[in-house]
This record gives sequence, C-alpha cells and structure tokens, in this order.
Amino acid sequence: MTVLFARLAPVLVVVTLAGCDRSTATSPSPVTSIPSSSSGPLRTAGSAVNKLVGAAVQAGLLSDASYRTVLDREFSAITTENDLKWANVEPVPGGFDFASADAIVGHASAFGMQVKGHTLLWHQQIPGWLDGLSPDALRQAVTDHIQGVVGHYRGRVRAWDVVNEALNDDGSWRDTVFWRGLGDSYVADAFRVAHAADPGALLFYNDYGAEGLGGKADRVYALVRDLKAAGVPIDGVGLQMHISAAGRPSDASIGANMRRLADLGLLVTISEMDVQLAGVGGTQAERLDAQRAAYHSVVALCVAEPRCDGVTFWGFTDAHTWLAPDLPLLFDVQYQPKPAYSGVLDALSGR
Ligand code: G3I
Repeated sequence: MTVLFARLAPVLVVVTLAGCDRSTATSPSPVTSIPSSSSGPLRTAGSAVNKLVGAAVQAGLLSDASYRTVLDREFSAITTENDLKWANVEPVPGGFDFASADAIVGHASAFGMQVKGHTLLWHQQIPGWLDGLSPDALRQAVTDHIQGVVGHYRGRVRAWDVVNEALNDDGSWRDTVFWRGLGDSYVADAFRVAHAADPGALLFYNDYGAEGLGGKADRVYALVRDLKAAGVPIDGVGLQMHISAAGRPSDASIGANMRRLADLGLLVTISEMDVQLAGVGGTQAERLDAQRAAYHSVVALCVAEPRCDGVTFWGFTDAHTWLAPDLPLLFDVQYQPKPAYSGVLDALSGR
C-alpha cells in the first residue's frame, strides 16, 4: 500500500505551486460567528471583543446538569480534553470509536460553540499497537489516523491541535514514537495530511512552557516560523498556559512572545489555561486574589493581541481538574464563581 506521505508530497508540490502557500494566504479571521444570543457574562464579554472563551470538556461530564448549565451559559468554545486522544478514538488499527467525541461535538453544535479537536499526535495516551511498527507502517498509521479523525469531523470542527508537545523543555526534539520512527518531518507531514482532510479547519501546534520569551519559546517560534516558510498549512500556536499564581512569565514576556508569533501571520491561542494555588502563601482570600490577578493579566494580554483568538480553560470547575486537589479553575466544586471568574470577566470587559 503506497504511503500517503510519499504520495501526498508530489500532490502537495502541485497544490503549493498552484498558490495554496499559506504564507501568502490571508488567514481566516481569528474568531468566527460567536452567537450574539449567548447569555452568560463570559460568552457575552468575549463576543464583544471577538474572543472565544473556551473550556476543555470530557464527554462523560455532559450528563451532569450542573456541569452543563455552567458550560452552556458561559462558554463559546469547547476543546475535547481526552475523547479525541489516539488511544481513546482509535484503540485498534482502523477501529474508530467516535461516540464520546460525537457527543461533545453535537453538544457544542446545539449551543453554538466552536470546537477544537485535541489532539491528533501526542506522545501520551497513544495505543500500544503503534509500538514496534516499521517507519512505513507508522507513516501509514499516522496518515490513516489523521485522515480518519479529521475527515470524520470535516466542516464541524473549527480547529485542531495537530501536534502537541513535540519539544522537550530544553527545546530539543522530544523522543517520541513519531520522532523516532519518522524523523523531524513528522510535524510538517501531519499538518499536510490534516489540511488535506479538512482544508477549512484551522491547524495549530500546541505546547506548554513556551508562553513567555525564553529557550523553549524561542524553539517553538523557530519551529513554526520554518513550517510557515516551507508552506506548511499551519494557522496558529497554542500556548497552554498551565501556570501558578506563585510565579509565572511576566506580562511583557508573554505579550512579546504572542506578538512575534502573530508577526509570522499566525493566530495565537491560550489553549489550556489553569492557575495553580500550590505554593501561594497568605490567607485563602489572598491566595484566591493572586489567582484572580494571574487570570486577569493573561486574558487581558489576549484581548490586547488582535491575533489572539481566545482563551480556553482546562476545565472550568475545581470539581473536575487534572490538578486535583489543587483549586486552579474559575468555578469552585459547587460550581460557584471564584474571584478568578471575576478576573477573567473584568479582563474581557476592559476593566
Ligand atoms: O476515563 C478513565 C476511567 O474510566 C478510569 O477509571 C480512570 C482510572 O484509570 O482513568 C480514566 O482516564 C483518565 C483520563 O484522564 C480521564 O480522567 C486517564 O487515566 C488519565 O491519564 C487522563 O489524564 C489526562 C491527561 O491529559 C493524559 O491524557 C487529563 O485528564 C488531561 O487533563 C490531560 O491534559 C493534558 C493535555 O491533553 C495536553 N497538555 C497537558 C494537559 C495536562 O496534562
């Protein structure tokens, strides 16, 4: 069976020569059609400044009425937290299980929310059958996976985290099954296959620890700069923003990093924000206020950056967070808004 990557390359050359080079194409406007009818304060404030306000969602939580009430009231975008990770959506070769992700996409559609599919290639939550494949077999598996998943949601998912966390903290290539088997070019090839599967979807590179200027951020910048220069169909960078109220990159550093990425013609998105309280001293009120200030600062930076398309929080209630028992999110375990919520609303409202 011919490997699509090899098959695709000649087609890509033709397509690129035909003027599909994204580096000259005008990127889609950062945010499309946030329904003005949305009711909640966050959605409304975000819509007023053309920013998506998103939350990572797990399908299993949609059966919880309290969860749905806050999600549907406050958020204009959803990122699939786990339901589209490879091990969950293609547990056996060619055996796709879209049921849970379909529930998320269907819910988002019913409530006018944009969807970001997370994530096509990541070194975690990958199925065991990928181990030991030959390079050709791995290329085919990657091609089939991306085509299968992106193709299934063609026209229904606004954006994809095509490759997640390909770099180590020191900026070197992460030693993943994809890098070992396919080499440095696996990133570019993944974007090309995803674009072919849904030319209308926005394609992002997503990573953590690259929010403010510095070693890893410089490496992410170089990676996406080179992808753009090569005509690879990349549209944006996700800055995960898993930070702490005890210490984080400065506003100036984050703002400058966002701006230089935007100057490449890319969108920037805050893709997985949460603000840990661990290590923050003082009374609980003081700690929660420090968290509020961190949320306010980062969201204000996105509002100020025209090519920042929005902020997605990695969950929205402390009842469901990967950081438990920390309390990193906007709503408490009883779904009541915390000072962090006010920080986000104030930033979206220009206060
Ligand atoms: O759903 C099963 C459940 O049936 C089972 O009983 C339980 C215990 O084994 O596991 C449950 O699955 C867990 C899943 O979260 C849902 O809770 C997985 O074991 C666990 O590994 C998974 O963790 C997720 C993690 O990525 C690894 O995929 C976190 O929820 C998720 O928040 C986290 O998100 C990542 C982003 O994808 C990438 N950026 C970093 C971020 C934080 O690590």
